[in-house]
Amino acid sequence: MKIISVVGARPQFIKLAILSKKLRKNHNEIIIHTGQHYDDNMSKYFFEEMRIAKPNYNLNVGSGLHGRQIAEMLIGLEDIFLSQKPDVVITFGDTNTTLATALAATKLNIPIAHVEAGLRSHNHKMPEETNRILTDHISDYLFAPTATAMENLNLENLHGKSFMTGDVMYDTLLYYGKIADKKSTILKTLQLEQKQYILLTLHRPYNVDKIGKLQNIFTALKQTKRFIVLPSHPRTRKMIESTNTIIPENILMIEPLGYLDFISLQKHSDKIITDSGGIQKEAYLNGIPCITIRPETEWKETVKAGWNVLVGDKKEQLIEYCLHFKPTQPRPQVFGDGNSVKKIISILESHL
Ligand code: UD1
Ligand code: UDP
Repeated sequence: MKIISVVGARPQFIKLAILSKKLRKNHNEIIIHTGQHYDDNMSKYFFEEMRIAKPNYNLNVGSGLHGRQIAEMLIGLEDIFLSQKPDVVITFGDTNTTLATALAATKLNIPIAHVEAGLRSHNHKMPEETNRILTDHISDYLFAPTATAMENLNLENLHGKSFMTGDVMYDTLLYYGKIADKKSTILKTLQLEQKQYILLTLHRPYNVDKIGKLQNIFTALKQTKRFIVLPSHPRTRKMIESTNTIIPENILMIEPLGYLDFISLQKHSDKIITDSGGIQKEAYLNGIPCITIRPETEWKETVKAGWNVLVGDKKEQLIEYCLHFKPTQPRPQVFGDGNSVKKIISILESHL
């Protein structure tokens, strides 16, 4: 098969890593980077550290208004799809890169495989919700990570082309988790003791695009008096810097980390506070209690199992969970068995 994998944002590099390695054993894979994320610590370092093949093309679209960003991606992708004539295009997750890839491919009648299909928050204010729904409806192979995702696809009459494969990020975590255990020295570098800190990430517009909202979160976290490490997404850092916001003394803000260091920091944290999709899953898989600053989640299984709590805007709940959340229940295997990549490749091989 001739396959084109398209990625552009941090979580997509992580979803691509193992799939690309395994695809390349028997197939011809071309990687396109749209350039949605471009800082070295949001892009280049992931390719180097995770040994992902260098992209064959980089569209360098950069940041911008969503319509324009997607439009620029479409132009670049269409040209490459026309010249390369792939048998299938793979798109990942729910970013603007995901939607642009599916739109460009469907207009040329090229089969589309969507990795991490079927997620729904039912919150249409999230740009990702539009990206997911449109991508699922125009894709040909929908690879669902969880039973809930599969159910969502059934409810939208997409069951004919849906496959429950489990989550590729579980495969990634198993593979690179072992390497992180050996290689990462991040605790030493930051002078941290195991289980003596909370790990925080924030980047959703819901939390960071209004400074008042971000300041409320910081105020609540200050009251906990717990030591908190914040590897800051550029979107969040820009908001903090442009408003001269003072970070409380118990929060250590650092640059975004590479995957190995970040996984290591997760594994040894006491708790994780986040609004990230991928990090909610990794917290569950690593057995770390997760506090999600969102009113809803696509990863309902983690909440049902008791290992993830949603605090939305409730400051008192955030403080309470930061201090006292200690789940002990079992964690059922809701993200598959860690062999999603193998399943995805064999489905593509048998259909194409
Ligand atoms: C995007 C995705 C989101 C995903 C997140 C992962 C969309 C609509 N959103 O959000 O689903 O969870 O990536 O991290 O696709 N910036 C930099 N350097 C970079 C990248 C971004 O400075 O390398 C800054 C720019 O100011 C930019 C802002 O971050 O405007 C937001 O970047 P963008 O890609 O639009 O959205 P994310 O918030 O990163
Ligand atoms: N991640 C990382 N370094 C960081 C923060 C996150 O490697 O400093 C990884 C994290 O382990 C997870 C992924 O990035 O695999 C999550 O991406 P992000 O939170 O940007 O996006 P989302 O999953 O919300 O779309």
